[in-house]
Amino acid sequence: MKRVDDFRLRFGKNEYVPIMVGGMGVDISTSELALEAARLGGIGHISDAMVEDVSDRKFDTSFVKDKTKLYKFNINNSDKSVVQFDLERLADAQRRHIGATMAAKKGDGLIFVNCMEKLTMNGPRETLRTRLNAALDAGIDGITLSAGLHFGSFALMADHPRFREAKLGIIVSSVRALQIFLRKNAKLDRLPDYIIVEGPLAGGHLGFGMDWAEYDLMAITLELLAYLKAENLDIPLIAAGGIFTGSDAVRFLEAGAAGVQVATRFTITNECGLPAKVKQEYVKATEDDIIVNGISPTGYPMRMLKSTPAIGAGIRPGCESYGYLLDATGNCAYINSYNREVAAHPNEKNIVVMDKTCLCTHMRNFNCWTCGHYTYRLKDTTHKKPDGDYQLLSAEHVFKDYQFSTDDQIALPEKEF
Ligand SMILES: Cc1cc2nc3c(=O)[nH]c(=O)nc-3n(C[C@H](O)[C@H](O)[C@H](O)COP(=O)(O)O)c2cc1C
Repeated sequence: MKRVDDFRLRFGKNEYVPIMVGGMGVDISTSELALEAARLGGIGHISDAMVEDVSDRKFDTSFVKDKTKLYKFNINNSDKSVVQFDLERLADAQRRHIGATMAAKKGDGLIFVNCMEKLTMNGPRETLRTRLNAALDAGIDGITLSAGLHFGSFALMADHPRFREAKLGIIVSSVRALQIFLRKNAKLDRLPDYIIVEGPLAGGHLGFGMDWAEYDLMAITLELLAYLKAENLDIPLIAAGGIFTGSDAVRFLEAGAAGVQVATRFTITNECGLPAKVKQEYVKATEDDIIVNGISPTGYPMRMLKSTPAIGAGIRPGCESYGYLLDATGNCAYINSYNREVAAHPNEKNIVVMDKTCLCTHMRNFNCWTCGHYTYRLKDTTHKKPDGDYQLLSAEHVFKDYQFSTDDQIALPEKEF
């Protein structure tokens, strides 16, 4: 049987190991993780979700503190429209995060940034324009547009000198989404350099409704490949979502995909940004511990561990500090749910909100344990220690397992205990 290493992902004349490590916000796919993928000849993603907070933690800036101070007067106000991002500061944070990552890059691979368009930030167009252009300024190799394609994003960076040099890609979950994207961008004369097709078993937000289980990644991949061929479009298609072994990946590469994007296997690596005790929650999870629910204020279904502290936690909306999900009019679905519960339980100190969650605050604190469908198989990829915890892996180990394994095997690491 073939192995992933028998294939190469081609961008122009350059060839890469056809493994992308997917973006995982907020700083779950750290620079360290992405840099390992690039060093090994593949493609790593960082994410720009809540980049001001990421910058504060990494570079000792004070973007969040300053924003909180500026808007403190509004904390008890349910109208958040006044809470705006300062675009200069946003660009500064983006350039720091991406610039430092690019400066540390070694090897022949690439570093991309995952930009979720659902982070509407109380000013969708201008904040996205700022993020995209600052990413290009900072020398990013490529930008993956995800979660909430509003179809006009390429135009927002069309005047940047690197617009045609950097790799630009999109994540779609259907032929229809791709068709709309291509139609809306036709006048720019700039096709995506790659298309990621993400199926229903992925982690994070899903591009499907609550009927996600009726869809199949291989079927959608084949539909997209047929569409690209019929339209004479030579754009690499990358399959993502539930590709757990090297052999799973080979099946997609043999079917005609140019590469695979994977994430869940890397959540229990040392380089992953999740706290060590959260990594243990992931590796210990059983199939019954994983659900897809509608608590994300974005409106997209999201997969997560049932035990995540984000479910039910009725914390005060943190928009004055964060506010990444505020829409163009300063609204977020969580604010409405929170206010409803406060009004219904005026004397209650501990408010419970079940239908929505304060995603910014919980993601920031690593308290929203979003995960891929096959998280329950992580325990098959490592050793259980005598104390009941599992040994964490190196990103290199997982990457190479995808690259070189055959026959649905998963290589266990050398025991460290
Ligand atoms: C913990 C976690 C967080 C994720 N966060 C994001 C994200 O912020 N943006 C995004 O586009 N995809 C996100 N994803 C999806 C991955 O980038 C990837 O496409 C998908 O999970 C691949 O499937 P796999 O996890 O089964 O390998 C996330 C996945 C996981 C597991």
